[in-house]
Amino acid sequence: MTETILIIEDEPLLGQELQRYYADLGYETLWAADCRQARTILSDQENRPALILSDLSLPDGTGLDLLEETRGNLSDCEWVFLTGYGEVPDSVRALRLGAFDFLTKPCVQEQLDMVVRSALRSAQAQRRILTDSVNAGRRYSPESFIGNSKVSRQTTNMLRQLSQVPYSALILTGETGTGKGLATRILHYNSDRAKEPLVELNCAALPKDLLESELFGHEAGAFTGAKSRHRGLIEQAHKGTLFLDEIGEMPLDLQAKLLKVLEDRKLRRLGSEQELSVDIRIIAATHRNLQDEVKNGHFRSDLYYRLSVFELRLPSLRERLEDLDDLVPALIAEFNCLAGKKVTQVSPRAWQRLKRYAWPGNVRELRNVLERSVILSLSHQLPEQWLPGADAVVESGFAETNPRTVEQVEAPQTAAEQSKLDLQFPIDGSMGLEEMESEIVRKMLATCNGNVMEVARILKTTREKIRYRIEKYHLR
Ligand SMILES: Nc1ncnc2c1ncn2[C@@H]1O[C@H](COP(=O)(O)OP(=O)(O)OP(=O)(O)O)[C@@H](O)[C@H]1O
Ligand SMILES: [Mg+2]
Repeated sequence: MTETILIIEDEPLLGQELQRYYADLGYETLWAADCRQARTILSDQENRPALILSDLSLPDGTGLDLLEETRGNLSDCEWVFLTGYGEVPDSVRALRLGAFDFLTKPCVQEQLDMVVRSALRSAQAQRRILTDSVNAGRRYSPESFIGNSKVSRQTTNMLRQLSQVPYSALILTGETGTGKGLATRILHYNSDRAKEPLVELNCAALPKDLLESELFGHEAGAFTGAKSRHRGLIEQAHKGTLFLDEIGEMPLDLQAKLLKVLEDRKLRRLGSEQELSVDIRIIAATHRNLQDEVKNGHFRSDLYYRLSVFELRLPSLRERLEDLDDLVPALIAEFNCLAGKKVTQVSPRAWQRLKRYAWPGNVRELRNVLERSVILSLSHQLPEQWLPGADAVVESGFAETNPRTVEQVEAPQTAAEQSKLDLQFPIDGSMGLEEMESEIVRKMLATCNGNVMEVARILKTTREKIRYRIEKYHLR
């Protein structure tokens, strides 16, 4: 998607030159000569800039005033200020307002280009997070943690309760695949922070130096290779939730730095003198026993106590095999929809196999097994050959299992839901995501007689996004 850059510059020659320059590089460009024109442009919701390149002093006000005025509506847009020689930017105020960077005029083109590129990347990341929040918020209610066993009901209740309270940190423990990621989404999207970002980082995935700069961000030149400013994930999660997966793998010195941020609620990017205020909630997940890690010196006790305001353990699937009664139908329904299959029956033998298995990979493994089985199914019956064999069974012995049909699998209730079920996509790689998206919008438009409002309502998105896709895919 072409990004839009708004240039706010009262000097016509420079304004037009910048506009031409960035248009030649392939960006959409807009130019405003003063605050009034800029306000008019910014009030247009259809054409929102990702980057604003603004002069600091303008004939009818200052760029900083403009930033302060509009930042509530433009949280996915970055501001870069160009200041005249001898002008002293009010950098404390600018930082507080979240400006991306300052450059002094006249500036070297290469330097400006680099700042523009990093600012656009930053805006794109922010936009992705915000779009994800809107979409994800609808999907993750406490009930999306499926299971009716006693332990699962306790977990759901706990998730519901925790969503209502303003805790600062929480630890989630549980084996792999027990739903730590899912629980995090439920906690975030049902809390009063739901509209703010949920930012995730897997501490096991990055080497120490990268982990540090990803978390804390850096200034240009903070270390070799740090070409321009980068907002770290802690900063990106401001007002929202930072999910630190595999926290047990975080090196000890970074643990100390993280603790300091939590205690002071202040952050310093690598290579910066300035402190930024941050307000984050941390959800930390681990498959390790952190108390043991504290005892053997791999985890700082002070950070452990700071994080473990609440601790929630997610039970393994073998502790709650009765949850299969709800999980299996729900997952089969999901994969029926995705793969255009119609599996509605699970034979007593298949149930027995499912309930006798120990599920070391927990719900993730169950999902994989059912996905494979549904995709390869040839009838209404769930095939058995892909289910786990009798070689890894739980000893507890489930002699009798109830033969159940999976009526819940598909029960379309409304016309809109019916049209959703009519969509079938090949999953052999012959159709890309964009084609699928275009097909969804096309079908929905046909179903709703071209009523864009209605399509947007059913797909839980905005009219603008549907219109954009109609144009993008030439659907009219
Ligand atoms: N109770 C549940 N109900 C429905 N889906 C679940 C449940 N628990 C887990 N899942 C699903 O199983 C998959 C694995 O869960 P998730 O990724 O949250 O596990 P995890 O504990 O984070 O695993 P890991 O430690 O390996 O990262 C996800 O697709 C998740 O949505
Ligand atoms: Mg996970």
